[in-house]
Amino acid sequence: MTDLLAVRGVTKRFGGVVANHEISLQVPRGSIVGLIGPNGSGKTTLFNSIVGYHPIDAGSIVFDGREISRLRVPEIARLGMVRTFQQTRVFGKMSCLQNLLISVPHVHEGLAAMCTRQPPAVTERARQILRLASLEDHLDQRGADLSFGQQKLLEICMALMNEPRLLLLDEPTAGVNPVMIESLIALLRDINARLGITLLVIEHNMRVMMQLAGHVCCLAHGEVLAQGSPAQITTDRAVIEAYLGAQS
Ligand SMILES: Nc1ncnc2c1ncn2[C@@H]1O[C@H](COP(=O)(O)OP(=O)(O)OP(=O)(O)O)[C@@H](O)[C@H]1O
Ligand SMILES: [Mg+2]
Repeated sequence: MTDLLAVRGVTKRFGGVVANHEISLQVPRGSIVGLIGPNGSGKTTLFNSIVGYHPIDAGSIVFDGREISRLRVPEIARLGMVRTFQQTRVFGKMSCLQNLLISVPHVHEGLAAMCTRQPPAVTERARQILRLASLEDHLDQRGADLSFGQQKLLEICMALMNEPRLLLLDEPTAGVNPVMIESLIALLRDINARLGITLLVIEHNMRVMMQLAGHVCCLAHGEVLAQGSPAQITTDRAVIEAYLGAQS
């Protein structure tokens, strides 16, 4: 299995803070890789570096065989890499369907035009994606009227409108109730298995990680502390001391 994403020796500083220090991480094509670590360990910073949100200070990032570390967000998105945010970002006054229609990359159109002038194929794709997330009964419901867990599902649907090959998810189940967590796990598995999309997932919930990821990377203080299968990671002494021990 070849790597869809290869992060090699990435360092990112904010003034005197070294948020990421020489991080290396591989994401094989078709896989689900997990990223864990204590608060402030540099997980979101690594996502921001990967998707081109800010320049890195050292290292390289290769996506599908191409060096992307000097590209910016729109170019990287066009290559097929899309992320979701730690803070949920759905448009509360718009319907679920409209939220999806404004997520397609048409930057030159106004919001209203993007909702009304989309080709039928785009609208149909939006409906299919909402069906995949079991949100088809909520097409016309306002984003703000969905439960928090449904908003998390909707946000993933919005990301799918960009037809990613690699989807980066920043704590997709944070703050979500246990029933909706199961729906989110099912959706992520479907996205991976049925749509063939590779996933890199930041997640604090180890139980979710055990069910999803084939490989887990644990960061601490901006560095890679350990990598391995979920079973290896949950029994790794350094990971337990730095992270898992503090969770329970
Ligand atoms: N834009 C920024 N400017 C300055 N410092 C930053 C910036 N973004 C992140 N940091 C710092 O970098 C370090 C890593 O933060 P980051 O948000 O990547 O951690 P995290 O692992 O995602 O944490 P959490 O689990 O709380 O989301 C922290 O010390 C944080 O304060
Ligand atoms: Mg974070």
